[in-house]
Amino acid sequence: MKSKGKKKIPHLLSIKDLSRKEILDILCLAEDFKSRKLKKKRPLEGCSIGLIFQKPSNRTRVSFEVGIYDLGGNAIYLRPEDIQLGERESVADVAKVLTRYLDGIVVRTFKHEDLEELAENATIPVVNALSDLFHPCQVLADIFTVQEKIGLENVKIVFVGDGNNVCQSWLIGAAKLGLNFTAACPKGYYPKARIVKEAKKIAGKKAKNITVTQNVDEAVKNADVIYTDVWVSMGQEDETVERMSVFRPYQVNAKLLKKANPKALVMHCLPAHRGEEIASSVIDGPRSIVYDQAENRLHVQKAILTKLFS
Ligand code: CP
Ligand code: NVA
Repeated sequence: MKSKGKKKIPHLLSIKDLSRKEILDILCLAEDFKSRKLKKKRPLEGCSIGLIFQKPSNRTRVSFEVGIYDLGGNAIYLRPEDIQLGERESVADVAKVLTRYLDGIVVRTFKHEDLEELAENATIPVVNALSDLFHPCQVLADIFTVQEKIGLENVKIVFVGDGNNVCQSWLIGAAKLGLNFTAACPKGYYPKARIVKEAKKIAGKKAKNITVTQNVDEAVKNADVIYTDVWVSMGQEDETVERMSVFRPYQVNAKLLKKANPKALVMHCLPAHRGEEIASSVIDGPRSIVYDQAENRLHVQKAILTKLFS
């Protein structure tokens, strides 16, 4: 894991911070946690981890709290009203003070720069639990889920919808592992050009496996996995009306699924808005693996925490 700041502290702000080998180690460790081979492992014994959440959460908060407990540690949930990152006091002061009490900080926030500033000023690991730019813990769990269900060999993954934080983490994760990944997004809602460029650079010889297109029908041809996420991410509520109309042709429904590989699996990071980005018949249908995907957040985060704290 990439270390930032003066001392060598491992942080996980983006999948970029992990080498290919570290990702594979996390996947392997997560498998051991899931099969309960490591049920007695308690690497967080005596550790307290702060969970700063500036946005709501079900999966991320609960899976981190349960995971920290399972690993022998103590989780302290800090509500948006408690910390008020950068408002009640500076981001740097939050980092410097929490460093004196805690052994690690898990942070869900708006500006990715706030996470970077926390990492610069904390001498304990900082983990991104979602920012406007990336959602690395989600995508590591997603990659684990794809591996578990169909393997990662020659798999074609198509992300349909908004080129958002989840899509951008997928770009980096897919690039690190040399996976075939396409983002099908409406014009104006592509992932950030610099992140696509960076993903292609990371993918090296496999750069052509990373594509972004507006043509969703073409993109889903031969797809093994169709992935979607909400059209309006947390913090974008003011854009709801416009987004509902722009994204309409990008709904994952039975008609779109017919254009993919007949065995294609459907993924969604959740929370889902049935009838918007995904039809009820699809998310509740036989191809959907969304609840296994949600469960895997727990196993993969336990693997991430174990790596960070060992
Ligand atoms: N997928 C995900 O991060 O869910 P929450 O927002 O509920 O944590
Ligand atoms: N893109 C969504 C993901 C929620 C888990 C958001 O940021 O709100």
